[in-house]
Amino acid sequence: MKKVITYGTYDLLHQGHLNLLRRAKELGDYLIVGVTSDSFDRERGKLNVRNNVLERIEAVKATGYADEVIIEEYVGQKIDDIQKYNIDYFAIGSDWTGQFDYLNEYCKVVYLPRTEGISSTLLRAESQREIRVGIIGTGRIANRFIPESTCVSGVTIASVFNPDLTEAEQFAHKHGIEHHTNNLEECFNKTDAVYIASPHIYHFSQIEQALQSGKHVLCEIPLALTGDEAKQLYDLAAKKGLVLLEASKTAHCPAWSHLLSLAKSGIIGDIVDVKASLSRLLPDTCMREFDESQAGGSVTELAPLCLMAVIKLLGCNYSDVRFYSKMQGGVDIFTQAQLVFDHAVANITLGLGVKTEGNLVISGTKGYILVPSPWWLTNYFEVCYEDINKNKKYFYSYDGDGLRYEIQEFASMIFNKRMDSFRLYPNESIAIADIIGKYRSGSKTTILK
Ligand code: CTP
Repeated sequence: MKKVITYGTYDLLHQGHLNLLRRAKELGDYLIVGVTSDSFDRERGKLNVRNNVLERIEAVKATGYADEVIIEEYVGQKIDDIQKYNIDYFAIGSDWTGQFDYLNEYCKVVYLPRTEGISSTLLRAESQREIRVGIIGTGRIANRFIPESTCVSGVTIASVFNPDLTEAEQFAHKHGIEHHTNNLEECFNKTDAVYIASPHIYHFSQIEQALQSGKHVLCEIPLALTGDEAKQLYDLAAKKGLVLLEASKTAHCPAWSHLLSLAKSGIIGDIVDVKASLSRLLPDTCMREFDESQAGGSVTELAPLCLMAVIKLLGCNYSDVRFYSKMQGGVDIFTQAQLVFDHAVANITLGLGVKTEGNLVISGTKGYILVPSPWWLTNYFEVCYEDINKNKKYFYSYDGDGLRYEIQEFASMIFNKRMDSFRLYPNESIAIADIIGKYRSGSKTTILK
């Protein structure tokens, strides 16, 4: 029996795929199709795939050509598969001519004619309207957002808002944005969606106004300053049929997603302890981060990412939360929070005026996961055991400033009319805001001298 293998993404399955699979099948008696996993596609820079891996597998199965479907997850897997499945022919479209010649050492490589005039990229472009995004606020993160947004197709920056018109104009000029304004309504009129990167205290009212005006919203962390506010906003988004997503960038990066699945699958046993730290010593105590009237402080600035990690790993049902803070000029320059769950404890350490190692350690009954500093830009982690020979290191790419992953998810939610993201569900985002709200109301806080 002659065995053939071929690989692809098979997004929005089309005639080109059908022709390729038919020809591949005709090369032998048994066809194995390797469908790329979502995370492998993201790693390869394919950020705009519409169908998820399960949908793509189903579509390939439905063609009737595949005798077996497998998932392709890593670079180098083709060599492993060819040997493991005892493959005679590796087949791929002629757009790849020459690129897989190295596999000739393991089996015969065949480049099959590619069908002209059709591709998933073309279909995605045809079915996709541009999302015109308005930028609300022109600070440091907004400046990083613009170049990252160019990596996501279907997203155009159409307007920028700042209450100070000169600042809006400068930002628009710097980034080549057509429209700028100091009037929110005007910004909404030019756009389908907004990215809110204004000071925290404006988030609630700006999200509310944007949703009332029928705009999808991606909002920087913290999305809101109390759980009630966050809940109101998610309820409003649901009522209006609009996407509301918290821009918790770590939650969207590929390495974090894999870490979470590994941790949840039990490779370190039951998770009993999560410790996440994040500190950033800022040069100038006149900055917004140190301004009480602008809701500055370590918790509002730094807690959302650490709490995201705790909540994704341990859930939202904690029974107690306590805080320990060092204050300066009305804001907490250091806070440690302890969350108690039935089955575990968590500890987050945050500093704007205190420096600490910014790592994440997840401890379980069989081992632990260490994400070294800066853990929130996850690109590497290590799974460790009592027997160090069993330790395993995982490396990933973290492209650019990493905001492209959340932008891609936001765009995908809008295109697919998907109202929530498994990367950070509304109830999880609400739980984060609720803990911040508890802290701000002074609940169970010890002030360090
Ligand atoms: N293929 C083909 N003819 C086309 C499109 C794809 O023969 N018009 C082949 C590719 O060469 C590959 C397989 O189908 O062997 C799966 O390719 P995939 O990358 O999933 O399809 P594309 O449509 O090329 O996707 P994209 O536009 O995202 O690159």
